[in-house]
Amino acid sequence: MTDKWSYADIYTRSITDPEGFWGEAAEAVQWNRRWDRVLDESDKPFYKWFVGGELNTCYNALDCHVEAGRGDQTAVIYDSPVTATVKKISYSELLDQVSRFAGVLRSKGVSRGDRVVIYMPMIPEALVAMLACARLGAIHSVVFGGFAPQELAVRIDDAQPKMIVSASCGIEGKKVIPYKPLLDRAIELSDHKPETCIIFQRPQVKAMLKEGRDFDWAVESAEAQPAGCVTVSATDPLYILYTSGTTGRPKGIVRDNGGHAVALIWTMQYLYDAAPGDVYWAASDVGWVVGHSYIVYGPLLRGCTTIVYEGKPVGTPDPGAFWRVISDHGVKILFTAPTALRAIKKEDPRAEYLKKYDISPLRYLFLAGERLDPDTYHWASEMLKIPVIDHWWQTETGWGIAGNCMGIEPFPIKPGSPTKPLPGYNVKIVDEEGNELPPGREGIVVIKLPLPPGTLTGLWNDNDRFLEYVTIIPGFYVTGDGGYIDEDGYLFIMGRVDDVINVAGHRLSTGSMEEVVSRHKDVAECAVIGVSDQLKGQVPVGFVVLKAGVHRDPDEIVNELVGMVRSEIGAVACFKQCAVVKALPKTRSGKILRATMRKIADGKEYEIPSTIEDPAVLDNISEAINELKLL
Ligand code: COA
Ligand code: AMP
Repeated sequence: MTDKWSYADIYTRSITDPEGFWGEAAEAVQWNRRWDRVLDESDKPFYKWFVGGELNTCYNALDCHVEAGRGDQTAVIYDSPVTATVKKISYSELLDQVSRFAGVLRSKGVSRGDRVVIYMPMIPEALVAMLACARLGAIHSVVFGGFAPQELAVRIDDAQPKMIVSASCGIEGKKVIPYKPLLDRAIELSDHKPETCIIFQRPQVKAMLKEGRDFDWAVESAEAQPAGCVTVSATDPLYILYTSGTTGRPKGIVRDNGGHAVALIWTMQYLYDAAPGDVYWAASDVGWVVGHSYIVYGPLLRGCTTIVYEGKPVGTPDPGAFWRVISDHGVKILFTAPTALRAIKKEDPRAEYLKKYDISPLRYLFLAGERLDPDTYHWASEMLKIPVIDHWWQTETGWGIAGNCMGIEPFPIKPGSPTKPLPGYNVKIVDEEGNELPPGREGIVVIKLPLPPGTLTGLWNDNDRFLEYVTIIPGFYVTGDGGYIDEDGYLFIMGRVDDVINVAGHRLSTGSMEEVVSRHKDVAECAVIGVSDQLKGQVPVGFVVLKAGVHRDPDEIVNELVGMVRSEIGAVACFKQCAVVKALPKTRSGKILRATMRKIADGKEYEIPSTIEDPAVLDNISEAINELKLL
């Protein structure tokens, strides 16, 4: 139906007849057994899609293309300026590597339902490991390489993996980061111990392997018997991906197999306008949801060529890096975060580097991960002269909630808006009591249940926390974002209403940073807030009150705090600024006034809350902000 109808008709049908709409979309997937029911609502608010259906996601991503005679087509282009490598892997070659690695997993006792943690840099083996898990029906949980051992340990304890797959090192610009010591430390810190670790040895660093527990990827793969696809239920988990919530404990987002494949194939065709054989590049990392959906599964399920880029937008070697990749590989669709463009714009404001490359194959630039500020939108549109499409989504949803469908009929763009909701998402703006707000009024962005296929089916080991999303405002999923819908039905996402922040497109929790900072022996209390930053969107800034009787040099304490956050959460937290203050602004009931602090730090107007205990404290905070030179 999607080919013949207008967007309005498609969207309306997805809301009024979700079973009809998604049942038709599901025809694009190869099923081993057809579903009994498209949408099972018998256990609300736990909705299930394609109940009774059976499939294998890896089969749909690889085998079916090879069986259809497209084995010679390039599946993956690995482009790594940091190691001066470009490698093309065809669908047949990728299938061979994945089946062999699935054979390795099987020989080490991994089977359907077992968890496998993957802690890898941006190399094709990361995709091989993920797809090998999918092939066996094992559940992968990829942990972003920028997280410190403690964060990895928390995820190991929650996911309880039978095995961990890692590499000897990652390469971050000019830095080589040995991964194995980080992995060993994480396993030391965790209560749960994996039976086996498989390590991919890179030429830059040779990892020490622990006898009996650690095995060499290449040696094991060479000896392995290829494994076939294990049929799983549509509702079986494909992966767990941990994301930051408002507390220090990450949330394990659970994604199913069936709904995920259906939704991703739909978006590849109708949102991104990607056809089989097109070169699609999501310049993100496999450790994030964008990497899961649009470096790995989406492009491969659709039979596209995906790019695994091990580099940065700038500095590897220059701000022309993205344009070079587009030109070298004929990229049709680029998906990245606004922060990457801001980094390029900062170094090359007139896009001089762009003139060195032929980027004519590029048809669309999609952006997500944080708000697309109008300046960046205008700069990119003027420089590239192609549609620049903002789309809004979350780790929880796994694909866009709102966006402009290039494969249907694009809407006129309004800078600052990801345009309108995508099929299946009935988006509303409500106040704190759940009352719907009229057009133009800013409030909490919620989505009427059920969410469409491919969105989270729960949180790993944590039903109670999952219920928080869907019971605070009964019948709705609370996104955690604030925003409004204008008179034309365009959605504007203005930022998080909770303590989650977005730093250079990386989602982080200020709560987890506060937990680390408050463990310092001299800190009595603290607050960490997200402050606007021209390059990274937001950066965390800490405010600490010292214990009575502590008279040490505040700079020394701040350095220790910065070091603690870096070693306990990771460099990616970007916690570099912190001020020692006399007191934190609080309400009379003791609640820290973080929203007011944010407004002061962002140079916005603010009202002194009537509930404040001591208004003079705000002057002290303003002085500290001035000294940090945040404005
Ligand atoms: N492994 C180890 N360390 C990592 C890492 C990884 N995978 N990723 C980032 N880090 C480190 C960086 O080296 C840096 O360390 P430093 O403090 O020693 O310099 C720190 O974490 C912060 O990294 P980042 O925030 O990425 O800053 P940057 O200055 O290296 O790069 C950008 C800035 C904007 C170029 C970069 O953040 C970027 O490309 N962001 C886009 C993110 C994205 O794609 N998000 C997904 C949503 S689509
Ligand atoms: P993550 O789970 O890492 O994808 O982060 C999700 C959060 O990033 C959302 O809740 C938003 O706050 C923010 N976000 C993602 N995409 C957009 C966008 N296009 N516009 C505004 N905010 C966005």
